[in-house]
Amino acid sequence: MKEAIELTAEEAFQQQLQSLQIEVNNALDRVLPAENREPQRLHEAMRYAVMAGGKRVRPILAYATGMALDIPVTHLHGIACALELIHTYSLIHDDLPAMDNDDLRRGRPTCHKAYDEATAILAGDALQALAFEVLISESAQTSSDKQLVQMVSTLTLAAGHAGMAGGQAIDLAAVNRQLSLDELQHMHRLKTGALIEASVLLPALSSGKTSEAGREQLKQFAWHIGLAFQIQDDILDVTGDTETLGKTQGADIALNKPTYPSLLGLDGARQKLKDTHKAAIEALQEFDHKADLLRQIADYIVARTY
Ligand code: IPE
Ligand code: IPE
Ligand code: MG
Ligand code: MG
Ligand code: MG
Repeated sequence: MKEAIELTAEEAFQQQLQSLQIEVNNALDRVLPAENREPQRLHEAMRYAVMAGGKRVRPILAYATGMALDIPVTHLHGIACALELIHTYSLIHDDLPAMDNDDLRRGRPTCHKAYDEATAILAGDALQALAFEVLISESAQTSSDKQLVQMVSTLTLAAGHAGMAGGQAIDLAAVNRQLSLDELQHMHRLKTGALIEASVLLPALSSGKTSEAGREQLKQFAWHIGLAFQIQDDILDVTGDTETLGKTQGADIALNKPTYPSLLGLDGARQKLKDTHKAAIEALQEFDHKADLLRQIADYIVARTY
């Protein structure tokens, strides 16, 4: 007789991450245009950037929020894909010579290195547009028109001048300058936090199941993990290695970027990360065990090595 194999909590979490990664990868494969469709170079570049791996943290957060709110995974593919498409577009543009000028992303040459700058810019543009198309067309089957409008509006704000793009503008303007801690936090909140917050808010908006109070608690949670995510990204730029990261270690230092370690030192940045993680977990106090995956993701965000 076969013995039942008992998984440790960590193994079970890793399995869950992997199975949700497979879910979103299958959905992305379905919504991305085929490589052999004209204009081929653009479509190839889009797939090259999106299907290169990546942790899929934002889609996984969306699915995990769905679990906390009893929303089936299958209802959240549109949201999950939209988040990952916007995120990947932001990475393609972030790596361009006019921005961070990076050669390596997700363990392979950046999009503009593998193709060319014009193609990379267009691939980013097209991924952003596709994100909204997919969000609407996929979610229309399970969300009302009013819910769809709220979701589109939330994602638009998170991606645009008051979110990711605005944060990237602050980041570029801050090169070679010292920011105050408040200014640094504001930049991180926008460039990374906004899309992570949207990852939790969109599922909550997609069904009528969340109370105003529940949405506010989720928003608080997302606010803290969004910040924590970028603090750990800054720390890994100092402590990580290029092979594990899949992107060039030390890139922030080389460009003299303002980061948490550059402002607070490594120990100060680690303490800030710890405090931010604690605040995130506290924000979920009112949620029951169904929010455990969200809690585990918060742990993962601060402990990750890439
Ligand atoms: C990197 O994001 C850029 C930031 C916003 C910090 P991720 O660390 O989520 O990158 P992938 O998607 O796993 O490659
Ligand atoms: C980028 O921040 C945030 C984005 C909106 C893409 P970083 O410039 O720190 O991201 P990495 O370190 O290149 O992944
Ligand atoms: Mg950058
Ligand atoms: Mg960068
Ligand atoms: Mg970084």
